[in-house]
Amino acid sequence: MKCLLCASTDTPEIISFGKVPLANAFLDSPDSREELFDLTLVFCPVCSLVQITQSIDPNKLFRNYSYYSSMSDTMLKHASDLVDSLVKERKLNSLSQVIEIASNDAYLLSNFQKYGIPALGIDPSVNLAVIAHSKGVQTITDFFSDRLADSLPKADVIIALNVLGHVPDPNDFLRGIHKVLKPNGVCVIEVPSVRATIEGNSFDQIYHEHLSYWSLSSLRYAFKGNNLMIARAEKISIHGGGYRLYVTQPSAIRDRQTNQMFEIESALGLDKFVYYQCFADRVKDVGILLRTLLAGLHSVGARIVAYGAAAKGTQLLNYIGATPDIIEYVIDSTPVKIGKYVPGCRIPIVSPNNLGTQGYVLLTAHNWRDEIKSKHKDFTGQWIIPLPFPTIE
Ligand code: TMP
Ligand code: ZN
Repeated sequence: MKCLLCASTDTPEIISFGKVPLANAFLDSPDSREELFDLTLVFCPVCSLVQITQSIDPNKLFRNYSYYSSMSDTMLKHASDLVDSLVKERKLNSLSQVIEIASNDAYLLSNFQKYGIPALGIDPSVNLAVIAHSKGVQTITDFFSDRLADSLPKADVIIALNVLGHVPDPNDFLRGIHKVLKPNGVCVIEVPSVRATIEGNSFDQIYHEHLSYWSLSSLRYAFKGNNLMIARAEKISIHGGGYRLYVTQPSAIRDRQTNQMFEIESALGLDKFVYYQCFADRVKDVGILLRTLLAGLHSVGARIVAYGAAAKGTQLLNYIGATPDIIEYVIDSTPVKIGKYVPGCRIPIVSPNNLGTQGYVLLTAHNWRDEIKSKHKDFTGQWIIPLPFPTIE
């Protein structure tokens, strides 16, 4: 095992989940066989990057992708707000060039159309590219890389949301960004923060698509090493907590608030292994609490379902050893997931019409708590929030 960022070979283990299925590899039938892969999280003391040890072939994970960003109203609003602020702040117009890396179903880039600003998407997923094209958004169906960067126009704005953690070679990815970014351009990167994962006991964020888990310390190491700088960092709450980074060529001055964020993370010790050491014990406790809670409810005949066939749901349900006789089904609104089965635990996925009005719902998509609850005002049962520690509300 070599660190993805600095190639160091000394990477102590934070937690291991043993062999688990790929979290988004939903099954067509409960009798289908899923492949299992080792899932172990480690820390690199040289560059501070937290990462998993097993890299799955990206073609297997991302060429046909069941995650549609436009499924969430919160995500759509987040995207249109970002576009509005970039157009204003960067004074973009019909002569500007925007590029989005991992443009998914064009949920974000389609917002540039009303402004008449040229926007190019890049995404490896064939099924998502069809949707993007139907919205009139030009999309290159490929992985972004240093090599692909040679064939791209220079950009005033590059947007890369929730993709850095998926990239097998972060240095190659950042070299490509450096190449495409105009001297005065800005690259907006959003990435979940490892601090939110660790402090939120969010072991459900750890699965094979997520190769790396970033702190400001590892981000700084990565950008500096590729001739880029974080001019500004902001905290964001989407996807359970992360950073929005405004990355530029290395001439800009870093603002005061961003410097303070660096100081706080360093004081908390995110660049030291000891910060990560108790995580495995806490996760174990959460697992015991959840299993006890569900077994207790089941034993008194309660109806229990889960909500959100997200990748994190697969990881959580398998970790607690859920079975279809305890959790009847998982609700999800994504059309391509309905009718399939969660890999590993083989619980069926059904549409939100099946929620009913009573019983217990394990909110596996707990990051969308407010949005999901607001869609089901007629549900009078109880919501089980699994993390950071299980609660019922
Ligand atoms: P995510 O947490 O990775 O974004 O995945 C959330 C999953 O939950 C995704 O499969 C879509 C689903 N979902 C619903 O079914 N209803 C909703 O209201 C929302 C927000 C998400
Ligand atoms: Zn490293």
